[in-house]
Amino acid sequence: MEFVKYEQKDMVGIITIDREKALNALNSQVLDELGETFDAVDLNTTRCLILTGAGEKSFVAGADIGEMSTLTKAEGTAFGKKGNDVFLKIESFPIPVIAAVNGFALGGGCEISMSCDIRICSDNAMFGQPEVGLGITPGFGGTQRLARLIGAGMAKQMIYTARNIKADEAKRIGLVNEVYSATVDEAGNVTATAKENLMAAALKMASGIAAQAPIAVRNCKKAINEGLQVDIEKAVAIEEDLFGACFETEDQRAGMGNFLKKKDDPTKVKVVEFKNA
Ligand code: CAA
Repeated sequence: MEFVKYEQKDMVGIITIDREKALNALNSQVLDELGETFDAVDLNTTRCLILTGAGEKSFVAGADIGEMSTLTKAEGTAFGKKGNDVFLKIESFPIPVIAAVNGFALGGGCEISMSCDIRICSDNAMFGQPEVGLGITPGFGGTQRLARLIGAGMAKQMIYTARNIKADEAKRIGLVNEVYSATVDEAGNVTATAKENLMAAALKMASGIAAQAPIAVRNCKKAINEGLQVDIEKAVAIEEDLFGACFETEDQRAGMGNFLKKKDDPTKVKVVEFKNA
């Protein structure tokens, strides 16, 4: 692939959008390659994914403005659908996806981060939906996911004013969970860049998720995502089904068995190696 790279670290897959010259902007080719990359993830050996952008400056600076500039109405709608199809694939992907936002997350960049389960960022990150300044609406789910994530009032303010926000404000309004800065030693030398610290934190979080019972984690993702779309009665019924589906799995027996064993004898094995079965 030209613009999307995949790396496997134990049970964690790292997907990097690598079109640094254009600040990792999403053109049709990048969207196609992203879709193919997600389709190719081996769910037997991968339990969590990290999505990031190449370089230190930008996660994704939006959909490709050059490509969009000459689209007809019908082509605009089709381009929106192309992005939405890929982002829906990410959102409903069976295993969790962590967005490690290493810089600009504007327009389609903010939108792709919102299709991920969890967002963390470096302190140079900047989030925004600048589309109305370009004469369009957000087109890859921004009008929908931003309102669901941070509330309609704040989402409307961000979208109508096209104002970009910095990492600390994104954290304050709940758009990202954590912000990482560079590490500097006593002499003032940078010993780890913000991106390095961000990726280390993303990997630590992803490995922590990968160590949990995989069927249970997948069912939690499904329950939260599907439950948010329906009323509370239907939502708890969705949870009941997914909760029930965990029973009689090897991992449920191993997880609960381990707890019960520990109660009898605290020296007994504490780490369960879940089998995804
Ligand atoms: N599309 C295409 N190319 C882009 C791009 C984008 N969204 N964002 C940046 N680039 C390109 C620039 O054209 C430039 O290319 P050249 O070197 O060939 O000229 C290169 O990336 C570097 O960009 P800048 O020189 O502009 O870098 P900067 O540091 O001065 O500014 C920036 C960085 C503030 C992010 C600025 O590039 C910018 O404002 N980019 C556009 C951001 C934007 O409006 N995104 C929303 C797009 S619309 C959208 O996403 C619709 C949707 O919902 C689907």
